[in-house]
Amino acid sequence: MKKILFIVGSARKQSFNRQLADYVSGLLQGKAEVCWLDYADVPFINQDIEFPAPEAVTRVREAVKAADALWVFTPEYNGSYPGVVKNLFDWLSRPLVAGDYETPTAIRGKHVALTGTGGAGMTSGCRKKLTELLTFIGAEVAEPSVGLRVDMEAWTTNQLTLDEEQKTQLAEQVDSFLGKGKMIG
Ligand SMILES: Cc1cc2nc3c(=O)[nH]c(=O)nc-3n(C[C@H](O)[C@H](O)[C@H](O)COP(=O)(O)O)c2cc1C
Repeated sequence: MKKILFIVGSARKQSFNRQLADYVSGLLQGKAEVCWLDYADVPFINQDIEFPAPEAVTRVREAVKAADALWVFTPEYNGSYPGVVKNLFDWLSRPLVAGDYETPTAIRGKHVALTGTGGAGMTSGCRKKLTELLTFIGAEVAEPSVGLRVDMEAWTTNQLTLDEEQKTQLAEQVDSFLGKGKMIG
């Protein structure tokens, strides 16, 4: 069974994007193995500490390399992706050994699905910019990405509720990502 690494772009305890990822994890049951990336301890990138890579960076690189594909669930911050997401992908874009630009980086060639939930814009600015970033660093972004609007009630209950249309969109994204061989590469 193919292994998909889930990356959630929010550390918030009741993150809607984490709830969304949980839902998609359920859809993938029996179809793919889901692993979750814990990257809370990855430091801000700083070339003074790049080599040898900090332990947390080595750990996330190994997790990414071991996965057949990645699936990013992220909120939109000010029309773009959160800084923690940029920091993670900046680390993943760098050579594994100082000066070695031949060996592929951890992210190069990885197939990535993108999904996000947020306000009325349904994370469109975030997904567009994240697609640009991922393409720039050599990942293969599966199209179409999916953006969903958080239901009104959730803003007070912190409990995300998906409607039937949203559930259908997610089921189609799962089928497309698995079925068209996008994740297999
Ligand atoms: C710094 C910041 C900027 C935000 N900018 C946007 C935005 O541009 N578009 C949007 O839809 N929501 C924006 N939001 C609201 C988030 O989408 C909302 O809080 C969402 O619940 C965050 O995702 P999470 O529940 O997974 O943490 C912003 C939130 C923060 C903290």
